[in-house]
Amino acid sequence: MSDAQQSVSPAIPEVAISNMPTTGLRGDYAHMGADYTTAQNWDGYSRAEHRLWARLYQRQARIAERYAADAFLAGLHHLNMPMDRIPRFDQASETIHRRTRWQIVAVPGLIPDDVFFAHLSKRQFPVTVWLRKPEEMDYLVEPDVFHDFFGHVPLLTQPVFADYLQEYGRKGAEALDMKATRLLARLFWYMVEFGLIKSADGIKAYGAGMLSSATETAYSIDSPIPNRIMFRLERVMQTDYRIDDFQSTYFVLERFEDLFNAMRRPFAPIYRAISSRAPISADAIVENDIVVHAGRR
Ligand SMILES: [Fe+2]
Repeated sequence: MSDAQQSVSPAIPEVAISNMPTTGLRGDYAHMGADYTTAQNWDGYSRAEHRLWARLYQRQARIAERYAADAFLAGLHHLNMPMDRIPRFDQASETIHRRTRWQIVAVPGLIPDDVFFAHLSKRQFPVTVWLRKPEEMDYLVEPDVFHDFFGHVPLLTQPVFADYLQEYGRKGAEALDMKATRLLARLFWYMVEFGLIKSADGIKAYGAGMLSSATETAYSIDSPIPNRIMFRLERVMQTDYRIDDFQSTYFVLERFEDLFNAMRRPFAPIYRAISSRAPISADAIVENDIVVHAGRR
């Protein structure tokens, strides 16, 4: 495993699991409801787990201060989450609900696509309850509470992004019907897990995958190796991605409204037009790309 691989956290986002394994997942799926929700059981976290959260939080908050988009930092500020212990989902939900009418629902871990889409469409964000082990500080296969909470929850306080995520969930059923979840999942991967956005102060990171990783945030912004290309919906939907290494291409938003506006387009004609085309490889630059930075390999 390379250094880069060790720093990719997590390797798998919730929605990339079109064929979710039914065994081998580390969460407790025995005590959940039909919608895969469970209790956070905050009192069940050990002191060692709270200390590990504190180490993760302090490391990532320093990285975010330098590299994260203002909207993400504003979300962290609004959440006012404790640095020294795992946050209580019910308290965070109250804060988020006041701002955007979203709430957190606790889940055992990865959940099937249809359940994930249904939660998002109801403005419910599934957050895994378990925390990684100390030896997994830098690498994790399944998303844990730190990835889901620190990475995803801050942007739920931002109205435009919050509305975008609900629209994403609403589009899920159609994608399942049209067997196009692979195309829709690329939108989640590139624009929720690994998205960049322009700012007056240069390009900033807002994706949960990079902002919960020890080193991919800096890589996504500072490294000359990856491509940075302006967001176009069809382009993103056609582009393969890496699950075992840093991304070869990051897509850049001008503003969050561009993402929400893209979701207002009917997706069925787009699926029909592009589903039979060969995917664009993860490191390619293609015609009509607006290239912010051409990667050096
Ligand atoms: Fe994620």
